[in-house]
Order: sequence, then C-alpha cells, then structure tokens
Amino acid sequence: MQLARRMDDIAESITLAVTAKANALKKQGVDVVSFGAGEPDFDTPGFIKEAAIKALQAGRTKYEPTPGTVEARKAIAEKLKRENGLEYAAEQITISVGGKHALYLAFQAVLNPGDEVIIPAPYWVSYPEMVKLAGGVPVIVRGDPANNFKITRTQLDKALTDKTRMFIMNSPSNPGGHTYEPSELDELSYALARFPEVWVCSDEIYEKLIYGDTQFRSWAALDWAKWKDRTITCNCLSKTFAMTGWRIGYTAGPKPLIAAMSKLQSQMTSNITSFCYPAIVEAYTNPQSGVEVEKMRQEFERRGEHMWKRLNAIAGMECVRPTGAFYCFPNIGALLNKPLGKKGVVSQEAVAFCTAVLEEAHVALVPGNDFGFADHVRLSFATSMGNIDKGLDRLAAFLGNG
Ligand SMILES: Cc1ncc(COP(=O)(O)O)c(C=O)c1O
Repeated sequence: MQLARRMDDIAESITLAVTAKANALKKQGVDVVSFGAGEPDFDTPGFIKEAAIKALQAGRTKYEPTPGTVEARKAIAEKLKRENGLEYAAEQITISVGGKHALYLAFQAVLNPGDEVIIPAPYWVSYPEMVKLAGGVPVIVRGDPANNFKITRTQLDKALTDKTRMFIMNSPSNPGGHTYEPSELDELSYALARFPEVWVCSDEIYEKLIYGDTQFRSWAALDWAKWKDRTITCNCLSKTFAMTGWRIGYTAGPKPLIAAMSKLQSQMTSNITSFCYPAIVEAYTNPQSGVEVEKMRQEFERRGEHMWKRLNAIAGMECVRPTGAFYCFPNIGALLNKPLGKKGVVSQEAVAFCTAVLEEAHVALVPGNDFGFADHVRLSFATSMGNIDKGLDRLAAFLGNG
C-alpha cells in the first residue's frame, strides 16, 4: 500500500505510547493518577452552553460563512480591543476549528518549501510537525531552564538567517509554564526588527492563565515597528472558558493573510459548527465571563504553587515556578542513569522514566521528549488538589522520598 511521502516527514508522538499504557492499566482496574491532562478539569460556564443550546433549538443547523458570522467576529474584535489593546476590523478575524486549526492554516498560508521557522524550546508538540507539513524547516532554539526556559535576544539573533520566514512565540507556554514579560518581548523584537519579511506567530491561548505579578502582553501590541502588520495572533476559547471539546479557535491579522486562511478553510472544513457562533458572542460579551475565568485562574494558581513546591521538595527534581498555563515542567536529569524504585529500573531519558513511574507508582506523567527536552517531564495541574497530593505522594515514595 502506498501512502503520501509527506506522511514520512511527520513524527509519531512518543508521548502517545505512555498514554496508551496508562489507559490500558486503567482498563484493567488499576487506580492510575494522571497528570497528563492538557485541558481544564472545569465545565464550560452554563450561560455559554445555554447560548449554543438555544441556537440549536432555534434551528441554527445550516452552513454559515467560512470565516464565521459577523456577530462572532465583531465580538472577538471587541475583545481584542478591550483586553489586548488591538484594533481589528471583523474582516481581519477568521474563526476556525480550535487553536490547532488556526495555527495549521496560518502556517499553510505563509510558508514556502525551505522557509525556516524559529521555534523556542520547550515547544508545544505540534509546531514542528505543522511547520514541516507546510514545507517549512523548524529551527529549534533551546531556552535555558536557568532563565525560566525563555530564549534571549542573543540566541534569537544567532538563529535568524535570510531564510527565516517566521518566529513562533507561545507565552504563557505549554509545556514550560513560563511567560515572557513585556520587556522581554521588546528585547526579542529588536532582533527581529532587522528582518522585516519575518512573520511573528503569537500563540496566545493561555493568556488568561497567568500567576503572581506576571504581566501578559500580545505581541501585536508592541508599539513600534508596526508589529501588528506582520503578527499572526492565534487564540481559542478552549483553555480560557474550559471549552476544549467545542473546537473554537481564531486568528487576527492583516487582511490578505486572513483572506488566504479563509480561502484554505473553505476547501477544508468550511465554517465551524453553526450553533457555536452565539456561544462565542456570549463568552466575549457576558460580564459574568470575567468572573468565571478569574475563579478558574485562581484555582489553577493555588494548585500550581502547591505542585511546584512539592516537586522541588523531591530530591532529584528541579522545577521552574510556573507563571502561566497549567503545567509544571521539572528537570529529572539527576534521576536518569541510576536505579529507581523497588525494581531498580534505570532510565536514560524521560520516556523510559515515565514508563517506570507509571508501571510501579501508577502515576502518569508526560515525557518531555516531544517538547524538545528529553530530560524533563510535564505534569498538568488541571486536576484536583486531592489528586495532586495523591500522585505526588506516590511519586515521592517511588523516588525514595516517601
Ligand atoms: C500551546 C498550544 N497551542 C495550541 C493548542 C491547540 O488548542 P485547541 O485545543 O484549541 O486546538 C494547544 C492545546 O493544547 C496548546 O497547548
């Protein structure tokens, strides 16, 4: 059987093997504590659900314009103005099937074969694969854990070449849990200013989940060098409003880019699910939204602090304090190449380590390999405090800290 050559270029996720094993154990009745979730454990606020239910009952079941209804695009434009200080017309916004689809369309719309795309590591698993699918060449720049995984202007300067076509900024970050301060974005922008043909793709899906005195700023809001004209701002409702299953994402950017993305989408999926549009309007116009989002944010902050402190109390684990998103990403380098647990299993990298932890301690962690860091593991704190303590008690005992 012949498959397309492009299938050879995309990597199989190694993370999936560990997830499959965790699921198999659960099926056998084993009580596995999972830190794998990449989604809020809260339900979507009721008034947002109601808006979709009402629309469905009113017969909103037909095709809609591919980039979305004017009302929904306007609600997003108003949100961008109110919360991000960005002025966009409705035609500068297109709504797609989750943040993932938004990013995929953006890469397809601007990349040509051989174009280099600078991706800071640790990175969200899909960036390099999506870049390759668009014919681009991922150029990975490794953030130093000592600098909270953030890359520096000097590093970016070194990575930029005449072939660079895009720079991806994901802040707050999955999996690093770090957030670039506005001054740090400024620093990076000075390096990019020398290359006016380079797009910045700013993945802002965790913008509302920031902790302590961390400040969030949209890349397009950088107030010099007309950044808005070459920034692709991708966002979604998934993480902010606990709506991962709804599949609603959007992009704001220059008109020709948005038109190109919409043209592509028109040959792929057409509009998103019709009765979701009123839910978007509700999410961005109901004053109760801010209250609900803040409640979830506060709970994530409480859990994140707790998990981070507990991880750092385990000998051999070193964790950067999360300032955004809902992930801790500890270094396990000191635990590799030595016997661990009752069986004395020796792991050389994170997948083997996670497999050993899962098999003996029944705790599911996500290995950092797919994020570009094979000596780190990711733990999501989008789970209850009770689960966090139960899982970390087991992990500590497995590592001889019990
Ligand atoms: C950094 C980042 N970007 C994009 C996405 C995709 O978002 P969505 O679920 O809306 O497709 C995710 C999902 O986990 C993510 O972590």
